[in-house]
Amino acid sequence: MSPFLLTRTLPEDATEAALRADVLHGLSHTPKTLPPKWFYDARGSELFDKITELPEYYPTRAEREILAARAPEIARATGARTLVELGSGSSEKTRHLLDALPGLHTYVPVDVSESALTQAGHALIAERPELGVHALIADFTGGLALPGTPGPRLVAFLGGTIGNLLPAERAAFLTSVRALLSPGDALLLGTDLVKDESVLVAAYDDAAGVTAEFDKNVLTVVNRELGADFDPEAFTHVALWDAEHEWIEMRLRSRTEQTVKIPALDLAVDFAAGEDLRTEISAKFREDGVRREVATAGFDLTHWWTDREGRFALSLSVVR
Ligand code: AVJ
Repeated sequence: MSPFLLTRTLPEDATEAALRADVLHGLSHTPKTLPPKWFYDARGSELFDKITELPEYYPTRAEREILAARAPEIARATGARTLVELGSGSSEKTRHLLDALPGLHTYVPVDVSESALTQAGHALIAERPELGVHALIADFTGGLALPGTPGPRLVAFLGGTIGNLLPAERAAFLTSVRALLSPGDALLLGTDLVKDESVLVAAYDDAAGVTAEFDKNVLTVVNRELGADFDPEAFTHVALWDAEHEWIEMRLRSRTEQTVKIPALDLAVDFAAGEDLRTEISAKFREDGVRREVATAGFDLTHWWTDREGRFALSLSVVR
């Protein structure tokens, strides 16, 4: 019988404190910003799952294609006995990897969502009773500690979520991942690639309006958690390509001049008509840039795989 362990590295009230700090900081500076991690309450996670099925949103399908094709190579190159997945969510794409790693001892899904971890963990154990699952409730951008399971370890960070971090945050994040690992361990990184602006903008502003609803959902989260009175319909969803930084920005543009009250923070926030609140950056990458960024953190990039259409990449890097 395999064990299912769940370790909480986040105190129960840490999430609320972090949200308060992020909202206070992000809404009292110009330009206004909110970090994308607050999109993912139950409704936001459901909307994101819908996004992954939209015709315009190619990254999930492209990454799944690469994983399906390359899982055996990843298994041979790493010989991983412990697979750590950062931001594991439903662990859906991970099945390819789990199935390809015959010597796998323990799977360590890491997520801030306890419900996602419990659901995914129990489903997995039912299918693979010999596999140990040690789930961690943790924010992967904060100080993680891994269980003392056998190496080699493979850390997977899929979906292109690294693109939600600003360049300095990415450098700090990659360095903190390196610090968890030893020589012989590896990092499997999913990165969306620079491409035609029209394709990128459509992926973040779909015709059916699902991404717009996802974007506005963050206002609902702040209303519920901090008692704010945002009217989501008083904002328009905007997706734009920043060619200099090579990232997509999602913004909520205030339709009118308005004041939003946030009682839990004792704050009133003024918006001018047409003023933007930045809710997400989603950086797009090139091979050279990924190679350079992982190298700075102490990894050597050894494999670079793309989908057939060259839209998305999975890279494998080993600890130097
Ligand atoms: C889950 C962070 C990879 O940036 O493409 C999808 C989130 N935002 N549509 C991305 C998202 C708008 C997504 N990641």
